Amino acid sequence: ESIPVLTIDGPSGSGKGTISRYVAARLGWHYLDSGALYRAVGVAAGWADLDLADPAALVRCTFDTRIDFIEDPAGGELRVLVNDVDATDELRTETAGAAASAIAAIPEVRAALKDRQRAFRRAPGLVADGRDMGTVIFPDALHKVFLTASAEERAERRYKQLKDKGVSVNLDGLLREILARDARDASRAVAPLRPAEDAVRIDTTGLGIEEVVERVLALLPSR
Ligand code: C5P
Repeated sequence: ESIPVLTIDGPSGSGKGTISRYVAARLGWHYLDSGALYRAVGVAAGWADLDLADPAALVRCTFDTRIDFIEDPAGGELRVLVNDVDATDELRTETAGAAASAIAAIPEVRAALKDRQRAFRRAPGLVADGRDMGTVIFPDALHKVFLTASAEERAERRYKQLKDKGVSVNLDGLLREILARDARDASRAVAPLRPAEDAVRIDTTGLGIEEVVERVLALLPSR
């Protein structure tokens, strides 16, 4: 029988990352942060000074970039090595996010990352977080969640996150970036952001982390 997968898709700032890590820790399952793969390629492209408007160079970069994850079984932050360099902090920057979003629109890049993502499906189970986990990468997943939250709340969360890290940002600017990224992710020709038909939608606006984690865990058969 196949290894169970729980997919958690949604727009940036919906809380996917945090919720997925907590749920994976509670279940004792592996965790895939698929956005980190796109961000890692974006960071590598930046290091190599590649043109974000040159798809062929970005596809080559995708194949050439070594990406390793160091999971924390306790649900702490995932460390990401790009070509053997710890790029965890750089991955979270808006620059890396914007590069990831541009790169993610290239079909050959998505195809090249498909098998790398599926390789994360290891016993006893996988929580996969992203945009197309339930629709494209793990369409056969038994459990699918689509998280949403208002754009204002998502901007607010991101603002707090960055402020805690000592990064100075502007809330209006963040909101504009989030709306622009949403529009790009939802309208692109390949794997646009949309919930899988069999996904359970959870609106996290006004909900705390623990509340969302409990709602997600409640979807799985009691063990
Ligand atoms: O989730 P995160 O914000 O880290 O993702 C960064 C970007 O990577 C997204 O804006 C999206 O364009 C892209 N992405 C994607 N498919 C995924 C995960 C991320 O296209 N499964």
